[in-house]
Amino acid sequence: MCGIIGYVGNKEAKQVLLKGLKRLQYRGYDSCGIAVRNDGITIHKNVGTVEELERTSPKLKGRAGIGHTRWATHGGVSQLNAHPHLDCTGTVAVVHNGVITNYAELKEHLTKEGHVFRSDTDSEVISHLIEKHYRGNFEEAVSRAVRDLSGSFAIVVMHRDHPKLIGARRECPLILGKNERAGNFIASDVLAFLEHTDRAVYLEDGDIAVATDTGVTITNSDGPVERSEVRIEWGAEESKKAGYEHFMLKEIHEQPKVIDRTLSGRIKAVEPGVELELKHYDNLSGITLIACGTSYHAALVGEQVISELTGIPARAVIASEFKGADALRPESLLIGISQSGETADTLRALKTSHEAGARILAITNVPGSTISRYADQTLYTYAGPEVAVAATKTFTTQLVALYLLAIAYSKAPAYAAARLKDDLRALSGKVESILESEPQIMEQAGYLSHFHNAFLIARGINYPAVLEGALKLKEVAYVHAEAFPAGELKHGPFALLSAVTPVIAIVPEDDTREPMLTSIKEVKARGAPVLALATENDEAIEQLVDTVIRVPAAQAMLSPLLNVTALQLLAYYIARERGCPIDMPVNLAKSVTVP
Ligand code: M6R
Repeated sequence: MCGIIGYVGNKEAKQVLLKGLKRLQYRGYDSCGIAVRNDGITIHKNVGTVEELERTSPKLKGRAGIGHTRWATHGGVSQLNAHPHLDCTGTVAVVHNGVITNYAELKEHLTKEGHVFRSDTDSEVISHLIEKHYRGNFEEAVSRAVRDLSGSFAIVVMHRDHPKLIGARRECPLILGKNERAGNFIASDVLAFLEHTDRAVYLEDGDIAVATDTGVTITNSDGPVERSEVRIEWGAEESKKAGYEHFMLKEIHEQPKVIDRTLSGRIKAVEPGVELELKHYDNLSGITLIACGTSYHAALVGEQVISELTGIPARAVIASEFKGADALRPESLLIGISQSGETADTLRALKTSHEAGARILAITNVPGSTISRYADQTLYTYAGPEVAVAATKTFTTQLVALYLLAIAYSKAPAYAAARLKDDLRALSGKVESILESEPQIMEQAGYLSHFHNAFLIARGINYPAVLEGALKLKEVAYVHAEAFPAGELKHGPFALLSAVTPVIAIVPEDDTREPMLTSIKEVKARGAPVLALATENDEAIEQLVDTVIRVPAAQAMLSPLLNVTALQLLAYYIARERGCPIDMPVNLAKSVTVP
C-alpha cells in the first residue's frame, strides 16, 4: 500500500528519489521521506505530500538513497512514524511495506538489549534487528534479520558503510529496475523507475537482492538465483497527466484506445473464434472468478457472460471471502482477476488454491506481477499504467478480456459468439460516443453533487454496473451510494426514499427494460428524483424520469461496460463539483498489498 524506491548509481539520489516518490504517491500518501547515503545517512521526512518534502528538504549530496510514501497501518500519521527508519546507531536505514506481526515481541527483546525506539511503527524493528546482526557483512545481517520476522514485507535497506542497497520480500511486491549506465533501482512499483529504465526483474518470496551502481545480484536460501527480466512496455509518458486536470479523467478518456489495444491481434479475421494463446481446459465442470473491489465487479459480469456462452456454471467470489480450494468443484477452473496483480486478498486465495493443485488462470494489467506466479497461464489486459486510485480503464479492459475468454471457451451456438465478436469490434466507437456526451453528464453531475446519498438500480447483467457506479461515487465523490437489484428496493430500501435520495437507474433495451420501468414508477411514487441511463432510441423514458443520460444501444452482454463508462464520468464530475481530492481519495491506496 505504501510506496518504496531505492536508487544507487551515478546521479544525485535525492532528485531521483523525489521524482520516483511523486510517481508512487498514488500507492499511499499520508507521509513520506527519503534517506541519502553520504558521510553517514541523512534522513528527511514529513507528514503530507512529496511536493512539501521537496520544498523543505535540505541539500543532500549522495548517490545512493531510499524513499517511501506511507499509508499508516501501525502507528498514527506523524513525522516520527514516517519512513525511512534508522536504528539507534544511525548506521542502518530501512523502508518497509507490509505488516510485521511479531514486532511487539521483537521490540521488547531489542529494548531489553539497549535499543532505543523512536517510532510507534512495526517497521522500525527491522533496522534495529539488522544492526544487531551486523558483524561487517551487510548481506548476512539482512538475511539473518528477515529470518526473525513474521508477517509480510518488502524492504529496502541501506548501510552507512556500504555503497549498495539490499532488498528482500515476503508476500509484498518488490522489483529491480536495471540500468547499468545510470544506476539500479529497487522499488515496489515499476512506475517509480520507468523514466530511467524499462528493464524490470520481479523478486520472489525469500529473495535477497543486492543493487550496486554497476549491477544487481539475487540470492535465496539455496544460493545465487537468476530471475527473468521483463520489458515494461508502458511509455513513461503514459503515467503523466497529459494536460488533463486529473489522472482519473485522463484514464476514462483513454478507454477507447485501451479497449482496442486489449482486443488487438486477438480477434481472428477468419471466423470463428479468438486468438488468446491460451491452452484450453477440457471437461470444465465449473469456473470460479476471484477478485476484490472493481475487479470483483468485472468478475460478476464475467460470471454471467461465461455461463451464458460456455454453458459452464460460473460464480464470482470476493477474494477475502473465498473458502479455499476444497470449495472448488472437481475439474474446475479458478480465474483470478487483479489489475495490479498484487492485491493481498486475491493472492492469498490463489496461492492456497495453487498449492492445493487448482487450475488457475490470471487476468491482470501488470506484466510480471505476483499473480502470474500462482497461475498456469495469464491473460493480460493492456490498459497501461493506471495512476488514479479509482479503477476505470482497467475495469473496462478486464471486461474485454473476459468477453474474449468467454468466446474462446464458447459452446453456445456459433452465431452468439460471432455476434459478440463483431460487436466487440465496434465497442470503442460506442465508448467514444459516451465521452462525447461529457457536457451533458457534467450538467447532471452539477445537480447531483448537492445530494449526500444516492441509490443506483439495475437488473441482470447491469447489476454489477451499478455496484461499480456506487463504488466510484463512494471513493471519489464521498457520496453514500448504494446499489440494488431494482426488484429488491421494495424489500426494505424503499424506507429511505425521499426527495433527497436520487435514484440512478439503468434502463437498457433488453428484457430487463419493462421490469425496470415498473421499479422506476414505484420510486417516483415515493418522491425520489430519478436519473435514467437509457439508450438513444428510448424516447418514452423521458416521460417517466427527471433526467436522462444517453448511452449507445448494445447487446446485453456489452451494456455494463457502456453504462459504467457513463457512471465513471458522472462520479468524476460530482467529485469535482464537491472539490474532492479525486486521484488520491482519503484513506485509500491504489494497491492493497496487506490482507
Ligand atoms: O489491483 P486489483 O484489481 O486487485 O485491486 C482491487 C481493488 O483494490 C480495486 O479494484 C479497488 O476497489 C479500486 N480502488 C476501485 O476503484
